[in-house]
Amino acid sequence: MFAVKAEKVNKYYKNGIHGKKEVLKNVSINIEKGEIFGILGPNGAGKTTLISILSTLTLPDGGKVEIFGIDALSEAEKVKSIVNISSGSPNFPWSLTVYENLRYFAMLYGLKNKDKAIKNVIDLLELEPFRNSRFDSLSTGTKQRLSLAKALLNEPRLLFLDEPTVGLDPDMAIKIRQQIKSIHEERDITIVLSTHYMKEAEQLCGRIAFIKKGEITANASPLELKKQMKLGETITIEYEGEFDVAALKNIPDILDTVCGTGKIKIVAENAGSILDRILKLFCDVRIKNIDISQPDLEDVFLELAR
Ligand SMILES: Nc1ncnc2c1ncn2[C@@H]1O[C@H](COP(=O)(O)OP(=O)(O)OP(=O)(O)O)[C@@H](O)[C@H]1O
Ligand SMILES: [Mg+2]
Repeated sequence: MFAVKAEKVNKYYKNGIHGKKEVLKNVSINIEKGEIFGILGPNGAGKTTLISILSTLTLPDGGKVEIFGIDALSEAEKVKSIVNISSGSPNFPWSLTVYENLRYFAMLYGLKNKDKAIKNVIDLLELEPFRNSRFDSLSTGTKQRLSLAKALLNEPRLLFLDEPTVGLDPDMAIKIRQQIKSIHEERDITIVLSTHYMKEAEQLCGRIAFIKKGEITANASPLELKKQMKLGETITIEYEGEFDVAALKNIPDILDTVCGTGKIKIVAENAGSILDRILKLFCDVRIKNIDISQPDLEDVFLELAR
């Protein structure tokens, strides 16, 4: 059984008085139980809209959504009890303290043992020092941790995180990523997250869907995406002297070359298999440095966003 099974989901928003804008176009995705699944895409692509629909906060205009086999449209209440969502730009009642906010949500969720649930999430997200601080006095990082704590109150089987580390300094972003990772390791939970940070997606997500103008244009593991894009590996050679650049043309599998002074970058599908042929061309030249680098997800993003 899939944690999420979405079929041909459509969403329109009003555009002007009479017009309408198609924000999601026939979006279909299956997310396996236990995955951390990433949703990437440019600003305005439809990530938040998709997450809102999958978490029952927004109704789609067409299509079907099942969460652990339960119809999210006709049995939204049932789905709500097993999912939760945390936004990177959380908006809580500003004059309530951390504890009061958590208590408010614990009541809203109808939790039986509220005190225990609140204690668990306060401990997990290290919020004890801020227990009696008002929401409007918290730093961005603490607000995000409170938002995560709120989302874990009902011990969801499926957790949606919409840009969980947006606007954080690198230290706090690393901390929150570690917390997401340990929540995933320690609990029987499926996580769906959107992010603009490719490092975050690469570190956390087993699979990624790329969404562009409301359509899914790629869906695979980060490694598969890199392979599918044929972005190739880059061999960078720094050298002193002259060599026959034109001879590189005779080597198959070279996708691109960029020459600089005393430095060449060769992009190849499989660098290891042609490295010896390349190095033979450098036999009369002093090589100062060689580096082979894999494409990163940033390259994939740029390619897919074109
Ligand atoms: N409530 C709304 N009313 C009208 N249009 C909306 C509404 N919410 C979103 N949109 C539009 O729908 C499109 C998709 O927005 P969405 O917020 O889902 O994108 P996103 O991929 O999450 O973007 P970002 O990376 O900036 O968060 C955008 O063009 C946005 O302007
Ligand atoms: Mg968004």
